[in-house]
Amino acid sequence: MDLKKRLPFLRWSFLRIATGARNIVTTGQIGDGREAAAVEYVLANARPGDVDDVLARIDEFAYEKSLLINIGDEKGLLLDAAVRRVDPALALELGTYCGYSALRIARAAPAARIYSIELAEANAANARQIWEHAGVADRITCVVGTIGDGGRTLDALTARHGFGAGALDFLFIDHDKDAYLPDLHAILDRGWLHPGSVVVADNVKLPGAPRYREYMQAQQGARWDTVEHKTHVEYQSLLHDLVLESTYLGS
Ligand SMILES: C[S@@+](CC[C@H](N)C(=O)[O-])C[C@H]1O[C@@H](n2cnc3c(N)ncnc32)[C@H](O)[C@@H]1O
Repeated sequence: MDLKKRLPFLRWSFLRIATGARNIVTTGQIGDGREAAAVEYVLANARPGDVDDVLARIDEFAYEKSLLINIGDEKGLLLDAAVRRVDPALALELGTYCGYSALRIARAAPAARIYSIELAEANAANARQIWEHAGVADRITCVVGTIGDGGRTLDALTARHGFGAGALDFLFIDHDKDAYLPDLHAILDRGWLHPGSVVVADNVKLPGAPRYREYMQAQQGARWDTVEHKTHVEYQSLLHDLVLESTYLGS
């Protein structure tokens, strides 16, 4: 494997992520225009209507042009497998970014309706262009907001998008690491999950969601059955990460 692929520290675009950490929290983007460049790259190079090719071109951009904070190709396989296991009719994602993981969910569950919650309007606009190009925009909806915005987004999902008791089959959590646990609780409080619903959480080791991990460990065999997948941070093979796949057992 190319040394720059294995060792992220050799890549300027990785170091730029470290300096752009504050931007990510406030704007949802790294701050150097790479997300818009990724969209341009996909529109120019990926075959329209070909989800596989769109995903491959995003991975190519992340490896060869500028690192992106998508779940990536390695952890993406874990996400794909979990989605296939559930075969959801309704899936919810927290954290859209460029729309990459939602695209993977759409590919793995061809009959699913997918909703993706994103705090940054610019990311929603980018993702919509990518989904349109891939030919799946009719099945993926980005809702701009947060689960912690006082009920506005949760209410919109209920009133406009058919979320209700036991309706949610699959949840992918990949946004603000401090919000993983409170947002899961907010969704549980709405009663949307049913026994057998699956929740996948990315980046549980790095950057890390320790309280979420502790909660799942404490609830093992009671409310949740969790498998911890040991893997690597996206687009390199040096830094380790954990993806948690948790099956809801009921209250
Ligand atoms: C790691 S990226 C998501 C990557 C995406 N899931 C993928 O794999 O393609 C995190 C995203 O979550 C968004 N975000 C951060 N805090 C959020 C919140 N509280 N609610 C919704 N989105 C949030 C950021 O703007 C950013 O786009």
